[in-house]
Amino acid sequence: TFGCQMNAHDSERIKGMLEELGLGESHEQEDADILVFNTCTIREKPDQRFAAHLAQARALKERDPDKVIAVGGCYAEAQRERLFSVYPFVDVAFGPGSIPHLGDWLGAGGVGVPRGSFGLEEREFAGRLPMHRERRFQAWVQVSMGCNSKCAYCIVPSVRGREQSRRPGDVVAEVTRLAHEGVREITLLGQNVNSYGRDLLPDVRTDFGELLRACDAVEGIERIRFTSPHPKDFRAPVVAAMAECPSVCEHTHLPLQSGSSRILKAMRRTYSRERFVRLASELREAIADLALSTDLIVGFPGETEDDFQETVEAVKEVGFDSAFTFVFSPRNGTEAATMADQVPEDVKRDRIERLIDVVQGVAHERNLRRVGGVEEVLVEGPSRTDPTLLRGRTRRNTTVNFAGTAAAGDLVDVAIEGATSTTLRGSQLAAVAA
Ligand code: SF4
Ligand code: F3S
Repeated sequence: TFGCQMNAHDSERIKGMLEELGLGESHEQEDADILVFNTCTIREKPDQRFAAHLAQARALKERDPDKVIAVGGCYAEAQRERLFSVYPFVDVAFGPGSIPHLGDWLGAGGVGVPRGSFGLEEREFAGRLPMHRERRFQAWVQVSMGCNSKCAYCIVPSVRGREQSRRPGDVVAEVTRLAHEGVREITLLGQNVNSYGRDLLPDVRTDFGELLRACDAVEGIERIRFTSPHPKDFRAPVVAAMAECPSVCEHTHLPLQSGSSRILKAMRRTYSRERFVRLASELREAIADLALSTDLIVGFPGETEDDFQETVEAVKEVGFDSAFTFVFSPRNGTEAATMADQVPEDVKRDRIERLIDVVQGVAHERNLRRVGGVEEVLVEGPSRTDPTLLRGRTRRNTTVNFAGTAAAGDLVDVAIEGATSTTLRGSQLAAVAA
């Protein structure tokens, strides 16, 4: 699986569907009868990673011609016209809207079935299909699919289609079912969760704030997260719901992309730097202790050194707790790909290195403020860096490595003793709940 949480969630459905067919997961590509790639095409890097994996799969298929290779996801949808000519050894290809058909084809062993299915007409929400969840205490819940925005750099609207909201009753029913199954933390997923509900028919029309309140009312759900909100649609009712719902976590991922209003306009983000900064401070005023993370792009066409400096200043001004930084990469079929004034690669590289330094410095300073305090942590398993420690996440979405005796899925209090720019370190105090 490549790409965002939406894609990872799609993979859970793909797995669920294959399990319904009696297929099991194989951990070695050599042993698998069917190889399924769920691809992303947001930037060049995932494209390249996928191409490398596919080359490996091709070699395996040459040795074992009965192996079925299936390619799904956003890259498949974006490349639908040329996929089979570039990769003639691919047996089945499908866009994100065609996942419901996958079981039918692979059930037939990938033989004598249509070689490709794309298009966005038959999209179905994840919760209605069989699903294989990776974690028993955390779950993604899809609230909408597609996106109606027109950000100049983004391929997502053309591969995921127009925005469609799931009926609120269906969302709450899924959250209730998950709570009964032992899930304690849910992440509501949509390309732009803050425009949720606008397309619903009047009998069920609602907004994202109301949806948060309805999910908060479900017994057993102790943490609610959501991603991603678009800053342009972040309205007062959502801020109020976040502040008033005890299970909504004190963390928001708010993608800034650029600190230059001029570049934001060229990106068609439809907010200015000033409006973003105001929104960030309103959120921090309304929600005590709120952590803010963001996405930043450097090297968008036309970005000057002054524009870049504005991004640097905005990072310092807002004080992001963490940030994903990206070098702009032109995507065929997007407006920005054909814009004049593309920024040279060496300039982009230099800017991203400088930006990462600033982001890390700000994040480290923010994390240091937690030292000496106590954080509620949802335990996820052993630490990735030191197996004698446990790893979990605070409500503010920071990873904590800590000494303790809890089990995955427990909520525990951890005394924070140290911080890096990305993680906290500490010791478990006592279990809050079993
Ligand atoms: Fe892409 Fe913009 Fe939609 Fe996000 S809001 S998915 S960046 S078009
Ligand atoms: Fe996600 Fe990549 Fe598609 S980020 S929506 S999997 S292009």
